[in-house]
Amino acid sequence: MCGIVACRTTDAAGPYLVRALGLLEYRGYDSAGVAIRTAGSATATLRTVTRVDSLGALVKEWSGQPLTGTGIGHTRWATHGAVTEANAHPHRDCTGRISVVHNGIIENADELRQQLVAAGHEFASDVDSEVVCHLVEDALAETDDLHAAVTSMLPRLAGSWALVVMDAATGRLIATADGSPLLVARSARGDFVASDAGAIAEWIDDYRVLHDGDVVELAESVSWMRGGIPTPPPPVIHSTWGGADLSLDHHADFMDKEIDEQPETAARILEHLVPGIADGSLWRSTGVVDFNRVAMIGCGTSLNAGGVIGMVFSRLGGVPFESLVASEAAGPALGSRTVVFAISQSGETADVLRAVDDVGSVSSLIALTNNPHSTLARRADSIVNCFAGREIGVAATKTFVAQVVTGVSYALSALVETGRLSSADALRQVEDMRRIPDLLAQAIAASRQSIPAVVDQVRDATGFLYLGRGSGVVYAAEGALKLKELSYRWAEHYPAGELKHGPLALVEAGTPVVVVDNGDRRLASNIAEVAARGANVIRIGGAGSTVPALGLSMQSPLPGGIESWGPLESVVPMQILARDLALALGRDVDKPRNLAKSVTVE
Ligand code: M6R
Repeated sequence: MCGIVACRTTDAAGPYLVRALGLLEYRGYDSAGVAIRTAGSATATLRTVTRVDSLGALVKEWSGQPLTGTGIGHTRWATHGAVTEANAHPHRDCTGRISVVHNGIIENADELRQQLVAAGHEFASDVDSEVVCHLVEDALAETDDLHAAVTSMLPRLAGSWALVVMDAATGRLIATADGSPLLVARSARGDFVASDAGAIAEWIDDYRVLHDGDVVELAESVSWMRGGIPTPPPPVIHSTWGGADLSLDHHADFMDKEIDEQPETAARILEHLVPGIADGSLWRSTGVVDFNRVAMIGCGTSLNAGGVIGMVFSRLGGVPFESLVASEAAGPALGSRTVVFAISQSGETADVLRAVDDVGSVSSLIALTNNPHSTLARRADSIVNCFAGREIGVAATKTFVAQVVTGVSYALSALVETGRLSSADALRQVEDMRRIPDLLAQAIAASRQSIPAVVDQVRDATGFLYLGRGSGVVYAAEGALKLKELSYRWAEHYPAGELKHGPLALVEAGTPVVVVDNGDRRLASNIAEVAARGANVIRIGGAGSTVPALGLSMQSPLPGGIESWGPLESVVPMQILARDLALALGRDVDKPRNLAKSVTVE
């Protein structure tokens, strides 16, 4: 994965690169680095295995030749090679003239490395990306034109890449991409390249996205080539990012802030979508006319959101649905009347992109995403923006709520539009949904009261079980995912009825068992089974529960209503449990180890 930035500005490049890398850290934060051309046509390469903040200090402390406005930067999520400074990008060729940043994977790197070493090149790192530096170095022995050199070495690469190549001798910058996102932008501040428009949004108004195979030079006039032939630049996209809101307000971390933003996020989305539910107009806006089946494709939290949305189609409309783990969804036989929802907050998840490439002939592909400018959005037949606002914490919180509220709204509208749900029933659903912001707010308040005592009890536990039944199972899955991701403790979810078929053997005195109590009567005997073995049962439910966070939804008067796919607010106490336990264990809750916000490798 990794984030890339490059700039060619009249003022100093360092602050631009460091600021943008801070905004790209969500793509990986194992290490970060910049290579900036000096006034003497050499390169200052500064790298760190700590965070981007310390890279900023390194740039400030630089005491060598003055730094120019031309540079490249990178924030890394390690794939090939350990997290060391030597493996941090940018990498350089043997001469130090060429510096490269790369996002993606060079699949034939081992083979190329052997050939390059045999030809006399010396490698300074273990990473796949370094081969590119040496390939460009070789190509420059044949031509003195960097553009031609980059173009000529590309056919030797297999895999996926977004690359920026900087030539310190000439100050030339070349960007190229195949299978990994990259965009270029020009503004009064200068020329920029980035993995994501959000990283450079404060300096640009619009940008162009590289197509696979494009090779672009940032120069007085930007030259755009594909397959060695000049090609018209892709259309300009207006940036709607605005400056990034990176303030924590009074919060200790972004996850805390984003948990608190959930009621307002849900309210905003509902206000926007509710008018189009009971008259089917929301669904009509997707342009999908006919379907008899629904498939949800996603990873992690987004897949869990898909599980909730799918329940609306199946339980309220009788439409069969299946959830497909994107990384396993190779060539599924979905059928031409299947609507596929590809769900991804980032819209850049490589597993999801690969899966949608493979779906074959389907009725329609809908991207449910928080990034309407993403690669996924560009590949879909229609885009459903979940309008969560920027989420910085790596753990998905408000984007989950936004995906569910948005997806459920579209699902209900689809059922009305296709005659599977009456407008009157849909209106009753809408009335229930209007409670969601309050339910979330109450869940936050109840959890903040009850969870500290729970954390004290479970602090030393090494493994957790999460149980649910019916619509509660998918929320249990989301709760277990949050706990693993943030606390680095084992957590597994099960349909509660499955316990006795094996997992019950894990339960011993003190084992924390988190139960999403959605009111299913059969849960009582499952709770009794674990309690009899000494489990520490943490019941998330209505009044009288360990965490009484589900108050209002337990009183829903509508059979087959929101309880068909709720309780959505049950995620709140599980988010807070995961965060508070992680903090008690000294974890970085916004940047858990080994992870990244946007997972752009398969
Ligand atoms: O950007 P995406 O929604 O496609 O990301 C998918 C998963 O990587 C993501 O939901 C992940 O599971 C979350 N960080 C979990 O909190």
